[in-house]
Amino acid sequence: MKVISSICELKNCLSGERRKSKTIGLVPTMGALHDGHISLVKRCVEENDICVASLFVNPTQFNNKQDLATYPRTPENDYALLEAARCDYVFAPAEKEMYPEPDTRIFNLGPVAEVMEGAHRPGHFNGVAQIVSKLFDIVEPVKAYFGEKDFQQIAVIRVMVKELNLPVEIVPCPILREASGLAMSSRNMRLTPGQHQKAPLIARTLKESTTFVPGKKVQEVIDYVVNTINKEPVLQVEYFDIVDRNTLQSVKNWEETVDPVGCIAAFCGETRLIDNITYRNK
Ligand code: PAJ
Repeated sequence: MKVISSICELKNCLSGERRKSKTIGLVPTMGALHDGHISLVKRCVEENDICVASLFVNPTQFNNKQDLATYPRTPENDYALLEAARCDYVFAPAEKEMYPEPDTRIFNLGPVAEVMEGAHRPGHFNGVAQIVSKLFDIVEPVKAYFGEKDFQQIAVIRVMVKELNLPVEIVPCPILREASGLAMSSRNMRLTPGQHQKAPLIARTLKESTTFVPGKKVQEVIDYVVNTINKEPVLQVEYFDIVDRNTLQSVKNWEETVDPVGCIAAFCGETRLIDNITYRNK
């Protein structure tokens, strides 16, 4: 496994691979890797000749300075996990390498980027589009792997790929969970042991709520999820909505759409966690 921090060096290595007719897959990450990230890397290794994983805490997608400053960074552990997963190249650039000048590009991401995360984290998805478009441009992957934990992010990236006519296939990968059901996240490292014990209530409540379809109205399910989670003093729901899985717009009745998705953001103490679940209605 080669660890590379220079764009020029990575491009040279990858054009060498392409000359040998190797297919290249990409797994973009912000590091502090866990088994969720590694499941994407393993899938990429299986489906491509060459797997590139990027480790870069992208400042332009953080709308909160404190969140950026405290984002966990564990590079040595990340390299060891990637090596064990048989990743071929790790791209770990410095900030100046990715942004020698401020990136002033504004993407036209449409309605999928305006709701939920888009509404609560202004500028977040534009920052994601900035960095992912740069990574696609540098790596030129045939396939790129993204986790369904960030369900809305996948939809936004698909819009960006269409807008820029990029020849890359976006591969969605299932959410990996801890034994408690809590969705794996780099931010889980910030939870105190007490908070870590309470956080699984989010996933548990989402799962429980799927048994309500079609006996209860969509709004009743929303109220149940929000109220159940908010009853736990350490948890506070920021938003929970049940949306169409393609447009990400709110669903009012179960019959409106096939397999809508419930998307949640909730604070556990100071730590903001997200998760989602599919409501199978057919
Ligand atoms: P990051 O949060 O590091 O996540 C990198 C990738 O891992 C994302 O596609 C995310 O959805 C996936 N992932 C995270 N937790 C997961 C889990 N429990 N199960 C399955 N997949 C999981 O998402 C980002 O970074 C950034 O926005 C990025 C796309 C790298 C752009 O900076």
